[in-house]
Amino acid sequence: MKRIATFLGILSVAAAAWFVAQNEGPPNLLSAAVAQEPPPSLNYSHVEIPYFQAWMSSGHADLNSEAFVHWQGDDPPLVPARCGACHSSAGHADFLGLDGSAFGSVEEASEAGVLQCSTCHNEVNSQRTEVTLPSGMVASDLGTEVSCVTCHSGRESGLSVERAVEGFGEDDVMPDQGFINIHYAAAAATNLGSDGNGGYQYEGMTYEPTFEHVESFSTCQSCHDPHTLEVQVDTCASCHRNIETTEDLRTIRMRGSGVDYDGDGNSRTGIAVEVDNLRYLLMDALQAYSSEVVGSAIVYDSGAYPYWFVDTNSDGLATPDEANFGNQYRSWTPRLLKAAYNYQAVYKDLGGYAHNPKYQIQLLHDSIMDLASAMGGSGQALPRPGDAGDESAVLAQASYDQESTLSLMPALDTSNTS
Ligand code: HEC
Ligand code: HEC
Ligand code: HEC
Ligand code: HEC
Ligand code: HEC
Repeated sequence: MKRIATFLGILSVAAAAWFVAQNEGPPNLLSAAVAQEPPPSLNYSHVEIPYFQAWMSSGHADLNSEAFVHWQGDDPPLVPARCGACHSSAGHADFLGLDGSAFGSVEEASEAGVLQCSTCHNEVNSQRTEVTLPSGMVASDLGTEVSCVTCHSGRESGLSVERAVEGFGEDDVMPDQGFINIHYAAAAATNLGSDGNGGYQYEGMTYEPTFEHVESFSTCQSCHDPHTLEVQVDTCASCHRNIETTEDLRTIRMRGSGVDYDGDGNSRTGIAVEVDNLRYLLMDALQAYSSEVVGSAIVYDSGAYPYWFVDTNSDGLATPDEANFGNQYRSWTPRLLKAAYNYQAVYKDLGGYAHNPKYQIQLLHDSIMDLASAMGGSGQALPRPGDAGDESAVLAQASYDQESTLSLMPALDTSNTS
């Protein structure tokens, strides 16, 4: 008897998922999913629906992820309207207008719930080719990746920073200014480069547009399996040498970017390593500028909101007593905010080296140079992608205090040459 009940349970889940996949039914699979384990009596391993197991294994279906349980302690435990578009399947349906409301806005707080088949597969998405980004720019000519771009473009843009700093001198502390956070895993914002203005782009500089990569490997779902979300490493290996694991992707380096961007004397490391090393240099410049020019030293903790704190004991590290909300950094100057914004935008997109490596390098490069120019040093200038054939592209005006920045820098990883 119990076995039949379980079997019927599986059948109804399967039927629900199948209907959802066929766009013929309401999205009732896991519609009440909140922060809890699936009922133990339901063993999903027997379910045979296309891509069901793949989706089940992904972060999108992870009932315990912070991205879905974040609001469970609230009263009532609903996802607020301004978060619902990306953090709840019901909120996303509201955003798309599948609930009968207007397209493009979330009207109400929604029940918590992981992504469902119908979050991506529905009659609105099958017609949609555009996404309006946080910068107000529009990504167009999109195919099935339209859903990915909707949720993975971040919540702020270079424009937010531009607006915040308007009217202030570059090194003036802005009263009442907090950190501006692009949000997390804004892969599409990185990928779109200057076509999306996700990063803070310095005046007078030109930035990489959308990273086209190669034909047939230019969309989200061409590199990522859209259901497991994993990068399809075996397909990369057909063009990139010595690639067996996801970790190996960090060794990829192409001739078109064979320039020593980070100034460590090695242009054969993976492009991911160039990005990382420039990020270390930027941290160094942020810390030097904050103490030398602002007079209040800054530290960063990638896991503690809002990420930037006052370095009360001047040791350069975010210690547990410093990395708390009450000690958040409050002495933002325009120059510091722009660079910190870019640091976070790069750091929180772990796949940025594949999404648009040159855009990330430009953002880091320009942030470093801008901070250095305020410290009046002179010394090494770093090559910048896109400028006069890269190699000769040293920014003439950049004054870069090699000693104060390089000496504080963590050891560069030069081990991984390909
Ligand atoms: C435009 C889409 C979008 C909106 C709107 C949005 N988020 Fe997110 N958020 C994301 C994505 C995508 C991630 C997943 C990042 C990842 O892969 O870890 C995320 C991750 C998070 C995380 C987990 C961070 C971590 O480090 O694991 C929290 C917390 C969060 N968001 C809070 C919020 C809050 C609060 C709001 C509303 C004020 C909000 N988000 C609105 C897209 C969005
Ligand atoms: C995060 C978005 C997303 C979710 C969630 C999702 N899919 Fe998909 N699905 C896609 C994308 C993107 C494709 C690839 C379409 C392409 O190749 O252009 C796809 C392809 C498919 C296909 C193949 C269509 C074809 O043309 O061959 C089927 C069937 C499918 N999904 C069913 C499901 C089912 C069932 C679920 C839930 C268990 C699900 N999907 C969940 C995004 C998603
Ligand atoms: C409704 C919003 C939404 C849509 C649509 C969406 N994502 Fe996500 N995505 C998220 C959230 C939220 C997370 C964080 C999930 C977690 O932490 O478990 C996430 C996580 C991810 C991750 C990281 C997975 C992990 O295990 O950490 C990848 C990769 C990803 N998404 C790719 C995609 C791709 C590719 C598409 C389109 C086929 C897509 N997403 C569509 C909201 C969305
Ligand atoms: C050229 C191939 C490629 C394309 C195109 C691509 N990605 Fe990625 N993506 C990667 C790689 C490589 C990683 C890093 C994977 C790792 O280290 O686990 C990554 C990482 C991610 C992550 C972070 C996963 C995590 O663990 O936090 C998200 C989210 C993501 N991609 C979403 C997208 C979205 C959305 C698109 C489309 C706008 C996209 N990607 C396009 C290759 C690609
Ligand atoms: C059909 C051949 C081909 C396939 C398949 C392919 N790539 Fe590429 N990849 C290229 C080419 C060509 C470039 C140089 C593009 C450019 O710079 O404009 C490149 C550039 C890159 C870069 C940047 C390297 C640098 O030095 O700037 C990364 C990272 C990358 N690919 C990752 C991936 C991943 C991850 C996959 C698998 C999901 C993949 N590629 C599949 C051909 C390919």
